[in-house]
Amino acid sequence: MTTHTAQTQESTTEHDHEDVTHAGHGHASADHHGDTHKHYLEAARVATSVRSFAEDFVKPGLKLLDIAEKIEAEITEQGAAPAFPCNLSLNEEAAHDTPLIGDERILKESDVLKVDFGVHVEGCIVDQAFTVNTDNQYAKLIEAAENALQDALSVMKAGANVREVGQAIQDAIVKRGFKPVENLCGHSLAPYVVHAGVSVPNVPRGDYIFQEGDVFAVEPFATNGGGKVTDGSLDEIFSMVQDKPVRLPQSRKALEFIAEKYQTLPFARRNLLAALGSQASVDLAVRDLTRQGILHDYPVLVEINKGMVAQAETTVIIEKDSVKALV
Ligand code: CO
Repeated sequence: MTTHTAQTQESTTEHDHEDVTHAGHGHASADHHGDTHKHYLEAARVATSVRSFAEDFVKPGLKLLDIAEKIEAEITEQGAAPAFPCNLSLNEEAAHDTPLIGDERILKESDVLKVDFGVHVEGCIVDQAFTVNTDNQYAKLIEAAENALQDALSVMKAGANVREVGQAIQDAIVKRGFKPVENLCGHSLAPYVVHAGVSVPNVPRGDYIFQEGDVFAVEPFATNGGGKVTDGSLDEIFSMVQDKPVRLPQSRKALEFIAEKYQTLPFARRNLLAALGSQASVDLAVRDLTRQGILHDYPVLVEINKGMVAQAETTVIIEKDSVKALV
């Protein structure tokens, strides 16, 4: 999953949803360092295996809903848990689409599909993405995103500035005749927090200096459009940003389920269906909880000129002289 920076700002300041409430859900935030490292490596093993499964499995003719559910099930079968709903964003959608309840959309050969999933073990998250375009019409666009990711990793190490990474991403994409999506970013990761506060832009911005042991998702987005995204009309993904008493029975039920199963991690409307029993109850609860500021929503992000968008993403641990890529 990506971070969307405020479009009017030059800085890497993010929306206010990063102040996540941890109280009361028993997070292992004081986890022993050695255990944390072990959990990241286990999440990395599962993410790598599920990625190669998904690269073989995702084919035109399949329903998006089946693709997402199969990938999420595979993560669980391998002993980990999805860190967020499998994002399946098509064509001019850059990110944050995930199948709806009863979604009938079918993948076509000409589609440019971003398959973005995350794996967590005890809250330690490995985030990754790749792009599928079966008819190869946009192979060069995909290659630009993948090359940008490799170039980004090659400049990352303890002491490097995040600005150099943005520069490497921008250069790699522009050199191949495309534009980076300037208001989407990679992000730091922390236990149970997908977006932990520091952004890795697709352009030279920011001033964070990487520290040994930092964990970052790096995710260049390349487009043949205008180079920016805006909020689309769909919102299917949410996360809990505060916990407070609610009156509506559907909301109370949803909140209990979310606090127990997802804590602060993102989830989709379809994840609430079994607990709430009907789409109408899910929609009612989600609307109520979002209005009260208990849930944050992640609208689907759409390219501003409806350009095609390709994404490549991996998660890395910063080392003294390089990075260790986890996928
Ligand atoms: Co991400």
